[in-house]
Amino acid sequence: MTPAVRGNVDIFPDDAALTAAVAERFVAAAAAAIDATETFSVALSGGSTPRALFTALASPEYSSRIQWSAVHVFWGDERCVGPADADSNYRMARETLLDHVPVRATNIHRIRGEEDPAEAAEKYERDLRAAFETPTGPPRSAPGARFDLALLGLGTNGHTASLFPHLQAVREQTRWVMAENVASVQLWRITLTPVILNRSAEVLFLVSGKEKAAILRRVLYGARETDELPAQSIAPVDGRLRWMIDAAAAADLPAI
Ligand code: 6PG
Repeated sequence: MTPAVRGNVDIFPDDAALTAAVAERFVAAAAAAIDATETFSVALSGGSTPRALFTALASPEYSSRIQWSAVHVFWGDERCVGPADADSNYRMARETLLDHVPVRATNIHRIRGEEDPAEAAEKYERDLRAAFETPTGPPRSAPGARFDLALLGLGTNGHTASLFPHLQAVREQTRWVMAENVASVQLWRITLTPVILNRSAEVLFLVSGKEKAAILRRVLYGARETDELPAQSIAPVDGRLRWMIDAAAAADLPAI
């Protein structure tokens, strides 16, 4: 199914076509990274949208094309809940994907949502820095020192990962990971900041459903206001940015 492409925005007729296209991108990104560095570091998005993608990646059609032993799994964010909690992004990924593919347990870099948020954020940043061999200082764009692929979603208020409007993490200039008490969802959250996300080799926003149409138009075509629309703060410094969306989410976008 050939998507209608607007710049770096690919539009697909329905969720099934979108899921298939993103799964193909995942397979391709993994193959390229493993070919270059023998590893594939991916940050998974949370929420409900990626559930269909993870289920597809666990199916033989895609799973058999990924060298899972070389895959390092991270998360873009986590709710400060335990790993068995219904709201846990880790739990959703485990149930739909990680329990069904031969990824190494030591290569699953879970954010410890059950621990003190600030300590868990510091621990996750240490884990990331060790994985990317960058113990101090800013992230590097070298292969193997950054996410090969970062999957992101879009909230109806313009947040992505757990970068919520007007919170410090959106404006952070040095830390890779932050914990914030997000009043709008009445939860502490731990999130990657744009500092590390914008060093990714590829960032892929996966957005579907008519409830995202209005915010998607504002983010893609509205005034640049990153504090109000944190998803606009995602602009890879030397990587690819791709929005892969379904027709329902694209309903309010200007005609090509
Ligand atoms: C989270 C996600 C968040 C999500 C958006 C969209 O932890 O909730 O990381 O950024 O991607 O809120 O969520 P849905 O896919 O459920 O609409």
